[in-house]
Amino acid sequence: MLLLMLRVSFFLCFLLIKLSLCADKYSRDDFPPGFVFGASSSAYQVEGAADQDGRTPSILDTYAHAGNYDGATGDVACDQYHKYKEDVQLMVDTGLEAYRFSISWSRLIPNGRGPVNPKGVQYYNNLIDELITHGIEPHVTLHHSDLPQALDDEYGGWVSRKIVKDFTTYADACFKNFGDRVLHWTTMNEPNVFILGGYDVGFLPPQRCSAPFGVNCSRGNSSTEPYMAAHYTLLAHASAARLYKKMYQDKQHGYIGINVFAYWFVPLTKTIEDELATQRAMDFYFGWVLNPLVFGDYPDVMKKIVGSRIPVFTSLESRIVKGSFDFIGLNYYNILNIKDYSSTLKMETRDFMADSAIKISPLDNGTTTFEYPITPWGLQELLEYIKENYGNPPIYIHENGQRTRRNSSLEDWGRVKFLQGHIQSLLEAIRNGSNSRGYLTWSFLDSLELLDGYESSYGLYYVDLEDPDLKRQPKLSAHWYSHFLKRKNVINFDEVLTSISNGYDIQ
Ligand SMILES: *[C@@H]1O[C@H](CO)[C@@H](O)[C@H](O)[C@H]1NC(C)=O
Ligand SMILES: *[C@@H]1O[C@H](CO)[C@@H](O)[C@H](O)[C@H]1NC(C)=O
Ligand SMILES: *[C@@H]1O[C@H](CO)[C@@H](O)[C@H](O)[C@H]1NC(C)=O
Ligand SMILES: *[C@@H]1O[C@H](CO)[C@@H](O)[C@H](O)[C@H]1NC(C)=O
Repeated sequence: MLLLMLRVSFFLCFLLIKLSLCADKYSRDDFPPGFVFGASSSAYQVEGAADQDGRTPSILDTYAHAGNYDGATGDVACDQYHKYKEDVQLMVDTGLEAYRFSISWSRLIPNGRGPVNPKGVQYYNNLIDELITHGIEPHVTLHHSDLPQALDDEYGGWVSRKIVKDFTTYADACFKNFGDRVLHWTTMNEPNVFILGGYDVGFLPPQRCSAPFGVNCSRGNSSTEPYMAAHYTLLAHASAARLYKKMYQDKQHGYIGINVFAYWFVPLTKTIEDELATQRAMDFYFGWVLNPLVFGDYPDVMKKIVGSRIPVFTSLESRIVKGSFDFIGLNYYNILNIKDYSSTLKMETRDFMADSAIKISPLDNGTTTFEYPITPWGLQELLEYIKENYGNPPIYIHENGQRTRRNSSLEDWGRVKFLQGHIQSLLEAIRNGSNSRGYLTWSFLDSLELLDGYESSYGLYYVDLEDPDLKRQPKLSAHWYSHFLKRKNVINFDEVLTSISNGYDIQ
């Protein structure tokens, strides 16, 4: 039924093109010189080989093995550890220009601190060399939710200042071993999400939270720890970025940045309360990370509401954090409606969610389907907002893609429509001055998803988990993306249909 509806809307748009109402003609060549297109992944979600060649568990291994994904784990995942050559060949076949992956900290430095693991160095060297040989840029994330379990056990990981030194040492090992070939470094993937999930609400590892804010909280403090974890995450980022800029950048000529998860927020009603709540949502959810980076301090509204629970930047810290990036990575999927919920501010004990005093609802208010509503204009608005409010920094879209059920059809029309719309909105934002430099869709392969294991998938390629060989198969979206990237001329739905009836680009 859903498929049918998507097909109907697909053809509807196809008809509208003829009437020039769907202005969706654009091409790869409309993007500025140097702009890159690629796809994303992260270590635990695709590598597998979880206990091979010296790797020790991360907090994601622990979380998965505790049954949080109904028994699914990343022990094998897509087995990219052993199949990286095959996967790079698929990237070549697709026409990808960049591949975003993350390094598993506990593979490179087992237990998080101490000697570097030569087998870990060898794996990432192999992957990076394979990419570069085929003309694909490696875009590397250092931390993607997979803190070494040993550091969480020892001092609580991100809630301790000790993490700053250990993270910097790990980053140093990465720059030293791979920086001659890796030109794009991202220190952290969406700190705002791993912190809220892991230290406030407790549904993500390390599942620290306190009643009444989370479920099954056995340790943690939702009133204070999210703010502490964010503070030390920012300091760890800034420390690694400073090291890179001081010791490596002149020689290696690369760039370093941080990633943040961003929704576009829209007031539920036109009341002044909901408009203010929407601004508060921007400040709490991404100003939390972006304001320190751009201005050297948390947003005023956060400091005012959270009071003594939010750590204060010393003037030295502020100076180190401010400007500590060459680019910002954004993960954008959809829009949320925001309603004022100031009554929570009257509670004596509050967590981050209560402090922000907003109530969030999906855009389509109750009629949410498994797939995201397709709202590309939210990406355009978000990019405008960042341009206007944060001095138009260089931006990489690090994640953007459609969620489907893992075992749904290879004819993923919804994902094609999603990509087509968002890439167009991105182009429009660029045409209006946004300093965007790249687009990396989430995800290259159907992966172990951090929110639900193997229930949902975002991949351009289906990975058959029943097949002992974990066979990869291109979905329609892979063909669409490939067509867009390889035929650098104008593309629209019409052409995709013709192209598909004449045979795919990926053989
Ligand atoms: C909370 O813990 C109990 C007992 O361990 C478990 O049965 C329940 O599923 C947990 N709830 C959630 C939401 O994790
Ligand atoms: C959280 O920390 C604050 C400040 O130290 C303290 O007042 C509060 O009691 C703690 N809450 C819990 C649940 O431990
Ligand atoms: C796909 O998975 C869902 C949920 O696990 C299940 O209900 C459905 O029957 C599956 N469909 C197919 C075609 O296997
Ligand atoms: C384009 O940019 C200008 C100047 O930054 C801004 O005023 C305008 O609202 C933007 N247009 C759109 C459609 O966002």
